[in-house]
Amino acid sequence: MKILAIETSCDETAVAIVEDQNFQPVVHTNVVASQVAVHAQTGGVIPNVAARLHTENLPRILREATKAPRRDYQPKGTFGGQLDYDAVAVTVGPGQVGCLLVGMSAAKTIAMSRNLPFYAINHLEGHIYSAWIGQDPPELPALIVMVSGLHTELILMERHLYYQHLGSTRDDAAGEAFDKVARLLGLPYPGGPPLAELATHGDETAFQFPIALEENDSLEFSFSGLKGAVAHQVAKLPNPLPRHTAADIAASFQKTVSETIKKKMLRALHVYPGIKSVCLVGGVAANRHLRTSLEQAINANHPSLRFVVPDLKYCTDNAAMIGAAAVYHHLFGHVDDWASITADPNLELGQP
Ligand code: KG4
Ligand code: ZN
Repeated sequence: MKILAIETSCDETAVAIVEDQNFQPVVHTNVVASQVAVHAQTGGVIPNVAARLHTENLPRILREATKAPRRDYQPKGTFGGQLDYDAVAVTVGPGQVGCLLVGMSAAKTIAMSRNLPFYAINHLEGHIYSAWIGQDPPELPALIVMVSGLHTELILMERHLYYQHLGSTRDDAAGEAFDKVARLLGLPYPGGPPLAELATHGDETAFQFPIALEENDSLEFSFSGLKGAVAHQVAKLPNPLPRHTAADIAASFQKTVSETIKKKMLRALHVYPGIKSVCLVGGVAANRHLRTSLEQAINANHPSLRFVVPDLKYCTDNAAMIGAAAVYHHLFGHVDDWASITADPNLELGQP
């Protein structure tokens, strides 16, 4: 079954074609049109602007993602020059409602007009299933470490499509902390990538920032205090900040985020000893320092565990991950009725 997947929940317009082969998702095409350059001018995503850009971009991205490579051209077929598909999947939440509706209208129209099965996918579930794209998928039970612009969560997944929340952030998400600290350092939006780049020139031991809830037995996170500590430190330093000082702050901040996530991951592995894999997913999973730090901690403390991180292009928002989640909805028989599905900006990760 080939699934056309559409993702428009925030600021990336994305379409992919994903197929289940031997009970695993295989990505045929994966096209993303980023709106980052537009949102960088305003320092963040303005929902109406993002929705309008999705409307402008989606037809072009749909055409690109369904364009057949030359060798697949069917001279007389109905879909000559186009890749065909057998089902449609779309992100229905969480996200900006106006943005979600753009992708959902397109997906519903395609499913209805071609009478295709329809899969309503939770964006967070998409991030989780980005770990299943690849040669060597994780073994269950898995601990999911989800770190994105809006979510920081530890999730226990004992079987496919079933998620148990172990802990989340009490305030800012990890990606949000990166974006806010980057702004303090005068870096553009989204702040994660430029801050990580700046950090490579800095000394991560130069400043000591606090690890929130370190002694707390819970599996919850908090990043607003860390952002406050960085702001407090920046206020005491010369303005504008010398570049090497900004690099030291970036490196020290990044190390603190990695340490915080590492400690909570190790605590979760201690509390839930049956776990076989750890999957690091979401936009912040693109951060090399975090990837390395979690991998080293697992190798040192739990050498029999598998550590799975998606390819960089599947960490930040994309539609291949939505297609990958839809493959498992299909394999477990969870088809949706497009007519009764509505966009839900606050959709929680639940059971099917
Ligand atoms: O998953 P995502 O693309 O969108 C959401 O669903 O939120 O995550 C976006 C977040 C942004 O906060 C961005 O700054 C962060 O991921 N991010 C990074 C890196 N690349 C993206 N943070 C740290 N290091 C990176 N290399
Ligand atoms: Zn996302």
